[in-house]
Formats: sequence, C-alpha cells, structure tokens
Amino acid sequence: MSRGGNGGRQRIKTAKGRSASSIKWIQRQLNDPYVRKAQAEGYRSRAAYKLIELDERFHFLRGAKRVVDLGIAPGGWTQVVRRICPQAAIVGIDLLPTDPIEGATILQMDFMSDEAPALLAEALGGPADIVLSDMAANTVGHQQTDHLRTMALVEAGCLFASEVLRPGGTYVAKVLAGGADHSLVAELKRLFTTVKHAKPPASRKDSSEWYVIAQGFKGRPEAAEADDE
Ligand SMILES: C[S@@+](CC[C@H](N)C(=O)[O-])C[C@H]1O[C@@H](n2cnc3c(N)ncnc32)[C@H](O)[C@@H]1O
Repeated sequence: MSRGGNGGRQRIKTAKGRSASSIKWIQRQLNDPYVRKAQAEGYRSRAAYKLIELDERFHFLRGAKRVVDLGIAPGGWTQVVRRICPQAAIVGIDLLPTDPIEGATILQMDFMSDEAPALLAEALGGPADIVLSDMAANTVGHQQTDHLRTMALVEAGCLFASEVLRPGGTYVAKVLAGGADHSLVAELKRLFTTVKHAKPPASRKDSSEWYVIAQGFKGRPEAAEADDE
C-alpha cells in the first residue's frame, strides 16, 4: 500500500492481473470506515451495521427468542442478533457456506427450493419473533431482470414470514430502489400493522438497496378463523 500525497487514502500497490472493477472494489473496501469498524469490532461483514442501524431506528431485536436469518453468510447479521439477544435461537440459510456461530443452526441450501421453508420451520421449533432477509439475487446487469429476481426473494420471504411469525412479529427484507412493488406493499399492509422503508447510513449511497420493515404481524388469517370456531 502507499499513503503518499492522496489525503491518507489507501491505494493498491500492484494492480497486476486484476480487472478494473476488482481494483475499484478493493480500493473501496480499503477506504470504507464500516469495513474497518467491522474488522475492529469482530463482525464478519460491514452489513452488520445496516442491521444495527435499522434496529436503532425501529427497535425490533430486543427480547427476541427465535429469529430467522435468510441469506445469513458470512454471518454479520446473526452476530448482531447474538449480541443484542444472546438468548435467541437463530436459524439461518444461505447458498454459500457459513462458518459456525454459537446459537445458530445454519442450512446451506437455496431458500427458493421446495424443501427449505419446512426445514427452516422445523429447525426453529416454534413461532419466530423476527424474519430477517438480506438476500439479494446475483445480478446479471439487466436492471429489470435483477429487480424481478430480488423481488421474488422478498415475496417468498414474506410468504414464509406469514407462515412462521408469531402475532406481533417483524419481517425485515432488503428490497431494491423504489422499495417494494405496490402489490407487495399491499400484501405487507394486509399482514402487518406498520410497513416502512429505510436506507440505513451503512448502505452505500450508490447502491440501489433499501429495506422494508414490516412490524406487528397480524397473525395468520386461517389461525384466527380456527380460533373463532
Ligand atoms: C448481502 S449477503 C448477506 C450478508 C449478511 N446479512 C451478513 O451480514 O453477513 C446476501 C446473501 O444472500 C444469499 N442468497 C441469495 N439468494 C439466496 C437464496 N436463493 N437462498 C439462500 N441464500 C441466498 C447470498 O448467497 C448471500 O450470501
């Protein structure tokens, strides 16, 4: 690295064999205060601060006993949950491998597979207080396709949340610019008392990601009907 004449910003010494985009990515990581903070505080990802900031604003983590983390790898969000609610049982899923985290059951599989929701619910062993989803589809560079693929994950997460959440529970999901689609917002409003969008400061300004925070799950309609009988 060299530090001369550029206001203290770090630069990569050798760019040999690296593409322009990978050099840009490495330089951005080196100069990102959240990356440094994550390293100093022992978080596996800078994404951890997005959850910390969302929780500072919406207060959904404290006291949670069962939490689902969709798109858990490398584990930053689950580390935050562990620190704020050490007693919580966490169940996570990711396509990628995740190093073990105490208190977390981790499935390495596609959340969109037919078996995933039942396996997650079984590992959870009871109703969830919170379903978190930081999943993002791999981008192909075609804006509309990328948007549709990520929104399909959010919708599947919403359906899953409506099956496992306890009444009063929370669903937090990453969405793309413009927030959730009208039909998804309508569905979330049908299921939850409040639905808000937020872009935490740790989310990069040039990223199109936002988060939807749906709180106060109203309960499964069929469960309410069954109670009436
Ligand atoms: C931004 S990362 C999550 C970072 C995590 N919140 C943290 O703090 O460490 C998004 C993750 O979603 C996962 N993902 C995307 N699509 C998925 C799917 N269909 N099933 C399971 N995981 C998926 C990716 O593999 C990736 O690890």
